[in-house]
Amino acid sequence: MAVVSAWSPSSWREYSALQQPEWPDSGRAQDVRRRLAALPPLVFAGEARQLTAALAEVVEGRAFLLQAGDCAESFDDFAAPSIRDKLKVLLQMAAVLTYGATLPVVKVGRIAGQFVKPRSSPTEHVDGVELPSFRGHMVNGDAPSPEARVPDPERMLAGYNQSAATLNLVRAFTKGGFADLNQVHMWNQEFVASSPAGQRYEVIASEIERALRFIAAVGIDVAALQQLHQVDLWTSHEGILLDYEEGLTRRDSLTGDWYDCSAHMLWIGERTRDPHGAHVEFLRGVHNPIGCKLGPAALAADVLELCERLNPARVAGRLSLIVRMGAGRVAERLPPLLRAVREAGHPVVWVCDPMHGNVSTTASGRKTRHFDAIMDELEGFFDAHADAGTWPGGIHLEFTGDDVTECLGGSEQVREDELDTRYMTLCDPRLNARQSVDLAFRVAELMRR
Ligand code: PEP
Ligand code: CO
Repeated sequence: MAVVSAWSPSSWREYSALQQPEWPDSGRAQDVRRRLAALPPLVFAGEARQLTAALAEVVEGRAFLLQAGDCAESFDDFAAPSIRDKLKVLLQMAAVLTYGATLPVVKVGRIAGQFVKPRSSPTEHVDGVELPSFRGHMVNGDAPSPEARVPDPERMLAGYNQSAATLNLVRAFTKGGFADLNQVHMWNQEFVASSPAGQRYEVIASEIERALRFIAAVGIDVAALQQLHQVDLWTSHEGILLDYEEGLTRRDSLTGDWYDCSAHMLWIGERTRDPHGAHVEFLRGVHNPIGCKLGPAALAADVLELCERLNPARVAGRLSLIVRMGAGRVAERLPPLLRAVREAGHPVVWVCDPMHGNVSTTASGRKTRHFDAIMDELEGFFDAHADAGTWPGGIHLEFTGDDVTECLGGSEQVREDELDTRYMTLCDPRLNARQSVDLAFRVAELMRR
C-alpha cells in the first residue's frame, strides 16, 4: 500500500504545481502570503461543515446542487448592482428548480473569490502580438500590454479585500430581506420579465405567492418561519493559486482540523487534477467540501484514485465530481465513471458542468457556447444517471445577471451577428439572465422525467 505522507498547509510545495504564476520577486510573494495568514478568515469552519451536511443530502438524492456564477470575477466590475443582479438570477433559478422538482436546492456561487484562471498556454496572441496569458485579476492585468501581464502578488491582497466586501454584501442580501420568498416577483428583472422564460417565471412566482397566503390562511405564523425569509448562499472558487489558498488556511479551534477559509467550497480544475500533483495534495488536507472537474479524458481508474486521495474516509458531501465532457461525448464517457464509483461505494455528488466542454469559436474569432449544446450535455447527463440508477446531483454554470450576448441561442435566440453587441466577459462566455432562467425551467423538466 502506498504511504501517504504528512500533510501541512505548505506540503503542496513538495509536489509539482501547474498553473502557478512566476512571481518576479518570490520574496514579495512570501511576504504577501504571510500578511494573508495574519488576516481574518473569510468563511468559518462551522459554515463549511454545514455545507458538507447539505451536500450529503444531495448524495442521498434528497436535494439538488445549483453552483453558478462568473467565469472570472473582475476587479473593475464590483458595484453593488451587478452583485445584486447576479443574486436575483440565482434566486430565480433556485425557485424554479425547487418548485419544479419539489426538492431543496443547495445554492453555491462562483463568487467572492473566483479571480484566478487556468490557461491552456502560457502566452496568447492579442491583435497579432504575443503576450503572457491573462491569469485572472488576482495574478495579473487583462490589458493587452507586457507591463499589465506581469504577475503582481499584491493582487492577492486586493482579491482578499474584494472577496470580503462581496461576501459582506451577499450575506446582507441573503439574510436581510432581499431573498425573502415574499420578494419572489421582485427578482424578475425587466429585461427578463418580457421574455418567454420571464413570463413563465411570473406564473410560478404567483403560485408561490398563493401558497404563502394559503399557509398563512390556515393559521401558520409565516413571519416566524425563517426558511421563508432567508437563504444560505455558499461561496466557491477554483482553488488554483496555492500561495493564496495556503495563506488563508486556518486550524479550527473547535475540532483541530484544517480549513481553507477563502471560501466554503473549493474545486480542482481539469488541468490540475493530477492525483500526484500539488493541487490534490493541498485540497486533500483541508476539511472543506471540495469539487473536482472531470473532462472527457478522465478514466474510471483516475477517478477512483482521486476519490481515494480526496475522500479516503468516505464522508458524504465532502467530494463533488463535476463532469464537463462536451455534448457529443457525455453519453459515451460518463457511464463507465458512474459505474466504477458506484461499485467502489464512494459517496459523491455528481454535478454536470455543461459549459466547459462546449466552447466553439465563431468565424470572427469570438469564443462562444450554444444554448442547444449546453442543453444536450445536460440531457446526456440526466440520461446516463437514469440508466445507471444514480442521482444527477446538480449543475455547475457560468452566468451573469446582465443582459449580455455571449452564448448563442436560447428561447430568445441570440444570433451570431449579435455577439458583438454586449460581449463583456473577462474570460469564458456566460449565459445571460434570460438564458439562465430558461435553462432552469428545462432542467426542472429533466428532473421530473
Ligand atoms: C472553469 O470552471 O472556469 C474552468 C476553467 O473549468 P475547467 O477546469 O473544467 O476547464
Ligand atoms: Co470558465
